Amino acid sequence: MEKVVSLCKRRGFVFQGSEIYGGLSGTWDYGPYGAELAHNIKELWWKHFVTEQENMFGISSSTLMPEAVWKASGHLSGFTDPMIECKKCHHRFRADQTEDKKKCSDCGGELGEEKAFNMMFPVSMGSSGEDVAYLRGEIAQGMFVNFKNVLDTMHLDLPFGLTQIGKAYRNEIAPRDFLFRVREFDLMEFEYFIRPEEWEKYFEMWKGEMWRWIERVGINKDLVHELEVPAEDRAHYSKRTVDFEFDYPFGRKELYGLAYRTNYDLKQHASASGVDLSYFDEDKKEKFIPHVIEPSMGHGRTMLTVLLSAYKEDEMNGEVRTYLAFKPSIAPIKCAVFPLLKNKPELVEKAREIYKMLKKEFGSVAFDDNGNIGKRYRRQDEIGTPFCVTVDFETIEKNTGVTIRDRDTGKQERISISELISYIRSKI
Ligand code: GAP
Repeated sequence: MEKVVSLCKRRGFVFQGSEIYGGLSGTWDYGPYGAELAHNIKELWWKHFVTEQENMFGISSSTLMPEAVWKASGHLSGFTDPMIECKKCHHRFRADQTEDKKKCSDCGGELGEEKAFNMMFPVSMGSSGEDVAYLRGEIAQGMFVNFKNVLDTMHLDLPFGLTQIGKAYRNEIAPRDFLFRVREFDLMEFEYFIRPEEWEKYFEMWKGEMWRWIERVGINKDLVHELEVPAEDRAHYSKRTVDFEFDYPFGRKELYGLAYRTNYDLKQHASASGVDLSYFDEDKKEKFIPHVIEPSMGHGRTMLTVLLSAYKEDEMNGEVRTYLAFKPSIAPIKCAVFPLLKNKPELVEKAREIYKMLKKEFGSVAFDDNGNIGKRYRRQDEIGTPFCVTVDFETIEKNTGVTIRDRDTGKQERISISELISYIRSKI
């Protein structure tokens, strides 16, 4: 874990939020490679769960929502973690993650009674500050409050899914373990609206699709395990939950969740808002409130488990090297182009020409003429660039093309310049 955290900082993937002011606990910022990786993961997720599916529709809802939404959804009363506070130093701990519930592990003081701590972030709105809104604790409510809008404008038949990727905020008692438990994070999730009698079929269908996603994005699936969450541990809205857990360096913990939310949310919102949120089945001439299957995937935990799965060390040319074996589809840089030597203008010129050609095609392409070629390979290995193209004397003198090096094996092959784009395209 320390190696991954240190690489992330050193190579501009992840920085502590507001670091120059000492950092804000539970927040992390992405640097240039982190932002690129984050974006590629979201794009691949959208492709996997939205555009490649037949009946999935994206929305993008506000992160600020009124108190009424959270009262109806049950979050103001039920979205809590058990907390204990030290009577002496006033440090607060998650009661369910504290071994000794009597003695403070920081100062040795006496711990108080266990209390339920609500994780919602209130925000005072308007010039008088009297209106309370909340930063959304889950993005799902955006899908529920827009259910009727989408139904009325798109005239959809069941089953269909409403999905979004966006920020969620939780006032976690004890943020920890890098990107694992934070106070602000992106969620990628959808509500799949169904007829109630079909819930088991669609629960299984989306479970299978989540496994395919795990493999596609490059999370080591040997480290992922399903957990049937017992009734007493399920969220207040769920009738069945299966968690996907990952073997992190700090233990086996939740990666993703899949829940059968019944028609709890739509029913609650219909009764609290007075708006009819039912669906009319034209064929069966039946009116009912649809039920929901909800696959929910934390984007930060995806970043973390992708990084942990991709991190590798091996020995190459007698040296230990570190590399990130990202799937090419999510690698921040798809390909790097080098002139063999910096001080040979004909090599630099040709390399620049190839760089421009590849950049036009793939966007995230790097050019590097700094230091010896071995160092340049190592730099790209460390940020997970799957291919490095080198222009050497043969390229110019014999017109025999360029070398292309594979990140994982270090093997190079010579290919013609005209084949480069199709070669790289076939691998990403
Ligand atoms: N709409 C359902 C929902 O939000 P959840 O289990 O509370 O369910 C969904 O959260 C996912 O969000 C989790 O499976 C995890 O991937 C991620 N997640 C939850 N809390 C998090 C936190 N504090 N920091 C980072 N990711 C978190």
